[in-house]
Amino acid sequence: NEATDGGTPGSVGAIVHEGLRNLEYRGYDSAGVALVGPSSGLTVAKRSGEVDGLTVPDVPDATHGVGHTRWSTHGPPTDANAHPHTDCVGDVAVVHNGIVENYEALKTELADHEFTSDTDTEVIPHLIEEELAAGGEEDGEDADLLAAVRRVEDRLEGSYAICAVREGDDRIVVARRGSPLVLGRGEDAAFVASDVTAFLEHTRDVTYLEDGDVAALSPDGVEIFAGGEPVEREVERVTWEADAAEKGGYEHYMRKEIHEQPESLRQTLAGRLDVSAGDVDLDVSFPPGFLADLEEIRIVACGTSYYAGRYAAQLFEELAGVRATVEIASEYEFGAGRTPDRTLVVAVTQSGETADTLGAVRRANAAGARTFAVTNTLGSTVTREVDGTAFIRAGPEIGVAATKTFASQVATLAMLAVAVGRDRGALAAADARSVLKDLQGLPGAVQQVLDEEAQVREAAREYGDGEAFFFVGRALGVPVALEGALKLKEISYDHAEGFAAGELKHGPLALVTPDTPVLAVLTDGARADETMNNVTEAQTRGAPALGCVSAGDTYDTLDVSFEVPNVGVAEPLVANVYLQLFAYHVANDKGRAIDKPRNLAKSVTVE
Ligand code: G6P
Repeated sequence: NEATDGGTPGSVGAIVHEGLRNLEYRGYDSAGVALVGPSSGLTVAKRSGEVDGLTVPDVPDATHGVGHTRWSTHGPPTDANAHPHTDCVGDVAVVHNGIVENYEALKTELADHEFTSDTDTEVIPHLIEEELAAGGEEDGEDADLLAAVRRVEDRLEGSYAICAVREGDDRIVVARRGSPLVLGRGEDAAFVASDVTAFLEHTRDVTYLEDGDVAALSPDGVEIFAGGEPVEREVERVTWEADAAEKGGYEHYMRKEIHEQPESLRQTLAGRLDVSAGDVDLDVSFPPGFLADLEEIRIVACGTSYYAGRYAAQLFEELAGVRATVEIASEYEFGAGRTPDRTLVVAVTQSGETADTLGAVRRANAAGARTFAVTNTLGSTVTREVDGTAFIRAGPEIGVAATKTFASQVATLAMLAVAVGRDRGALAAADARSVLKDLQGLPGAVQQVLDEEAQVREAAREYGDGEAFFFVGRALGVPVALEGALKLKEISYDHAEGFAAGELKHGPLALVTPDTPVLAVLTDGARADETMNNVTEAQTRGAPALGCVSAGDTYDTLDVSFEVPNVGVAEPLVANVYLQLFAYHVANDKGRAIDKPRNLAKSVTVE
């Protein structure tokens, strides 16, 4: 999202448009702008598709404007769902990044307002309109945009960054809660965007807003408020070049995306957990009686998504009391002995475009099974071919090796398992509550792991020259071991394999030497003690052993022990973050092309 308050009439549209181009690397599906001028009023243009395909209106007297690139979270990528969104009067326009969790309740409160999109965002301009109309009499403030945005903030739940403009008002009013917003302090213009890359060619003097901040950009400069009071925030100088800035100062998208996981997981979970009721609202529905009669959940996927599916299958069996099987999408056939109308085929696919997975969905549909997708991409092909979809809301992922989308896939599937379990009467409210509490703890637990990155970097240095790497685990630790090995081989080109720990002695042990480090998942949900027995078998053959261990447990013989915060069935998923960091640092020490490994593509659209 990008906005700018430019001083030179006529150039504002071009500056905003250029800012959107600078943000294209983040991934998006729609774009739009709103420009404001003293006599032209408010002019909005928006559409789904490329930033270059957006015709920015010629508004010679424009003094300020906002722009937005959208990555859909609520409602598919259509022209109507593109930002900016406006109110009924048509004099307020808003762009928004993040999720308004209570938008459905707010829409009900705004019953006499006409909505033109499926987005959560659209409630914001309507709420602003209502506050402007109410006139701020209660607290004696003027009925102006700044006061209205402040009051609207009190009514929004969720995490977001918003920018609002109004006809006849020379300010851009912005608010931040949970999603990034940075101000650019130019000499004769002020800028605001979710990312400094949007305006780096205009100014390098920036102020990062803090959560809860509201700011007004006007020809007189920038005012920032916290809790209604004016505050000063530091002005910092950005020394990165645009390329580094795109990666948020990280050297690679992959590392940036690993570090984004607390935030992306928060978005995944936002508004979906009702911990006290032990329930989940994923906004999905099934025909009456379908879940009760369900015989099997069959998950189809490829690559990392396949491992997310393997994690989820265990949760479906445990929490939803239903047989759950996982099939590599390119191998999937409907199969004998199954009843189509009592089978749910769940396609897990970050992109929603993987040809193998689409092929599997088509075979399931042809057999008459009910199909469902778990994806990151609204409007993707898979969403048009299945009977229902749950979105993982991880935000765009650019590194070819999937990281944050894996975490969000597993979290989404875990919520689905709880929802199905509750619906089928297979999961007691108290048990559901405990799983949901663990899920709620995920973002914080992942943050604690990220804070230990230095330890992983050191381990990568010490053990990264191994001849081969073996990853082991049991139960929920198996898919994580497989994913850990996949990550390492994808980006470091080292030989890495994942096994069910119990299988080590049935073959792979022949490969174990002092030059083959073994990495183990030793957490809750992964039968840690039994796994440790297998790790010891490898250590006896001289292999160094690195383990991800639940906080409070210790395995003294490990060469390296990574501590995993206590979050129950989510612990193996948290352990996976250590394995992501390990893969990253091993590959980085070897100077590999981490974001674009040789021979691999982010989305494979051929079978
Ligand atoms: C490719 C990517 C993998 C990804 C797989 C499935 O192989 O390189 O990172 O896991 O496709 O992609 P999907 O978009 O279906 O999750």
